[in-house]
Amino acid sequence: MKDVLAEICEKVIQLEKSGQRIIKLHTVDPDLPVDKKIITSAIQSLKNGETHYSSSAGLLELRKSLARKYNTSSDNVVIGNGSRSLLYGLVQSILDNGDEVIIPEPEWAHFLVPFIKQKSVTVFRVPRDETKSWDIDINYLKNKITSRTKLILVSDPNNPTGTFLSSQRLQKLQKISRKRHIYLIYDSAYSTLELAKQKKILDLKNPFFILLGTFSKGFAMPGFRVGYLISENKHLIDQIINFNYVTIQCLPEFTQKAAITALKNEENILQKARNIYSKRLDSALKILAKNHIRFVRPKAAPFIYLYVGKNKAEELAYILIKNNISVCPSTAFSNCDDYIRVSLTVGTKAITKALTLICKNLK
Ligand SMILES: Cc1ncc(COP(=O)(O)O)c(C=O)c1O
Repeated sequence: MKDVLAEICEKVIQLEKSGQRIIKLHTVDPDLPVDKKIITSAIQSLKNGETHYSSSAGLLELRKSLARKYNTSSDNVVIGNGSRSLLYGLVQSILDNGDEVIIPEPEWAHFLVPFIKQKSVTVFRVPRDETKSWDIDINYLKNKITSRTKLILVSDPNNPTGTFLSSQRLQKLQKISRKRHIYLIYDSAYSTLELAKQKKILDLKNPFFILLGTFSKGFAMPGFRVGYLISENKHLIDQIINFNYVTIQCLPEFTQKAAITALKNEENILQKARNIYSKRLDSALKILAKNHIRFVRPKAAPFIYLYVGKNKAEELAYILIKNNISVCPSTAFSNCDDYIRVSLTVGTKAITKALTLICKNLK
């Protein structure tokens, strides 16, 4: 299976090297500046000589800050080299040959499917329903569960659609996990950028529930590579700490100090980011609506998933790149080639230019 997003990333790098200026809407690499207080604390940490190996679980002070936020113990928190690395570690730790995994479709974790297959694990994709705000059909999912089902993996808010699981379906998923002893990896990467607040009750007491989070998106710190996981499963926590130890040993202390500062100033920083993305989204949706393009209003920034025609997404993505605009086709998230994900990680002027060209190509 090819990784279409990796291909597009590579193409963009080549074009930029040859001097082209690309409007980059294919990944979610926030363009917002990192808050000055965050930068200052990273620099201060380096000046203080915090340049040594540290705990493979992550700095206690950062784990404590996250534990307060999620109302749990710092023993249940592990900091990782971005949540991508933690996700990889989790899959390595949880799955054995012959296990079965359920992943909704579309879903960001599509990149894991080939890896999971190497382990002779069977992956079942469960389609999300566009007409129901891309929610998961729980009965369909239940029908895919067998005695070998070990893991369900879901992002909420969902990448690429930006929609939520309804509270009711989230509760049902958590109940399935608890009752059937199936691990549920709940990737909350975009929760910091939720535009419409939804009250979520997360079953952190369930030893099969694992929450993933990151500083990459809302705090615009992807290059700091600070992600975290929360789980009350002591055995799993030990395995992930060991995974960190053998792969990276530890995260740099200065990036973790920066993350602590981010949490201290969370409300202010995130509100600013949400306001900016919200304005971009409004102007983008106006263009799409005016051109009668099908989309579902995302409840979390910073991207829109739009319908571009049956089996047209990759073709359109390659046409756009010739016009110096990069987007991500839905084949990066599913077997469907009908949608593109457009990130709102550039200013309104560039978004307008890109969407106008996209609409023109769809006429
Ligand atoms: C749903 C989701 N989870 C995790 C990540 C990766 O986050 P990190 O930068 O912490 O590895 C992404 C990045 O695109 C994402 O979309």
